[in-house]
Amino acid sequence: MDDGLTRRTLLAGLCSAIACEGSGALEDPPGTLPGAPPGGCCAPGTPPTEPWALSGLLDEVAFPSGLRGGDPGPDGLVLSGRTLEPGVVLSGAAARGGRWVALPGRGPLVPVGGFVRIEVDGLEPDTEHAFALVSMDGLRRSALGTYRTAPAPDTERVVCLGATSCLGNAEPTLPLLWAAAADDLDAFLILGDAIYTQATTLSGYRGAYTTLLARDSFRALATATPLVVMWDDHEVADNWIVGPGPPGQIPIPSAQLRAARIAFCEALPQRIGADGVGLWRSLRFGRTLELILLDARAERTETSIVSTAQLGWAIETLRASTCRFKLVVTGVHLTDHALRLSFPNNTDDTWDRWQGYPEQRSALLAACEEVPGVAIISGDMHYGGIQRVGAPGEVGAGLWGVAAGPAGSRPWDLAGWLAEQGHPADAYDVLIDTYSYARFRADPGAGELTVELVDAAGRVLAARTLLRV
Ligand SMILES: [Fe+2]
Repeated sequence: MDDGLTRRTLLAGLCSAIACEGSGALEDPPGTLPGAPPGGCCAPGTPPTEPWALSGLLDEVAFPSGLRGGDPGPDGLVLSGRTLEPGVVLSGAAARGGRWVALPGRGPLVPVGGFVRIEVDGLEPDTEHAFALVSMDGLRRSALGTYRTAPAPDTERVVCLGATSCLGNAEPTLPLLWAAAADDLDAFLILGDAIYTQATTLSGYRGAYTTLLARDSFRALATATPLVVMWDDHEVADNWIVGPGPPGQIPIPSAQLRAARIAFCEALPQRIGADGVGLWRSLRFGRTLELILLDARAERTETSIVSTAQLGWAIETLRASTCRFKLVVTGVHLTDHALRLSFPNNTDDTWDRWQGYPEQRSALLAACEEVPGVAIISGDMHYGGIQRVGAPGEVGAGLWGVAAGPAGSRPWDLAGWLAEQGHPADAYDVLIDTYSYARFRADPGAGELTVELVDAAGRVLAARTLLRV
């Protein structure tokens, strides 16, 4: 029995043992019905326990931190691994009839900066796959990563996703991620601030990711569940911008951004963006759910939070989607917080989210309201919440947004802040101030998209039905 398979099997057992509790219902924004989601989120299928004929002995020195899989599609995914080897081959297998069946090897692959990034295609949809990197002489290999591909494009089934953000330093071992790793999810979203670094060089950024990838809890999650990642500011620098920006944004040299981008893409697997350059992209899980991932950080100017191309793409992708549910993913909030989050006499925070760019925000939200089955998910603010996106009577009033995280940054007691400042809290249906991730369950049979906020012990702190479509 192999190391990775053992862990995965144990995690699957843990998943079924976790008691999911709690239920509730949102009040009725237009197009949404109240209801209580079912507990639990374990997708069907457990990977085989017998390994295939795999060369080499596990070597954690030559292959530190295991593998990471990301951006699953119906026929493939992206893999990332670290190695000290000058060259490697990829060995893989597909689960068929309760057995691992070996796939053709791929390689040789030459690491860049100690990282190997591979776009794997030709896989079977909705199927568990296992992978390892193997040295060219066949003597050493990495730990296994096991990942399920997305459902076929024309199929519907229940899809379960997790999401969090802000893997900061207040809880450096990231115990929340153990709970996420124990969930049998189709993918896990990291919505930005995966690292917090003062680095300015490529080697500095690589060092920050090396620390993250070595965390046991992160590794347990990333070797068993495909990641879907987007960055925010701390992958580069606090509130960074290249060129002139709005108040509160801090200019950095373009060379620093290039270094940060290289390290981000090496360490955390992701597909190339829809325009062939950027990070914004969409991922589909059959006809059940489409993720529309926005990069609300790298294209900012004094007057816009995303490029015209990205905004146009997002609106067209929403309108063209044939999926029942669409999750718009943006690291920073689309919610109109008015001035409730602003420190007295300083409203710079409004420029750090869509609220500071009302024209683009209105255009995107109008499309979200025009298309049935849309909800919003964001990170950044260090609290977990379920909230109205638009003020009553304004654009976005009919949409629900989920604030996911934090995973390691100190949680913010937003309910306490609102009370202290004398601000109304009626825009927020749920507020929690502990480490948490959001667990989405898209059920095409019931026509429901539900969300649960889950803490580090696996307890469900809040549960709501976001959409009935
Ligand atoms: Fe953060």
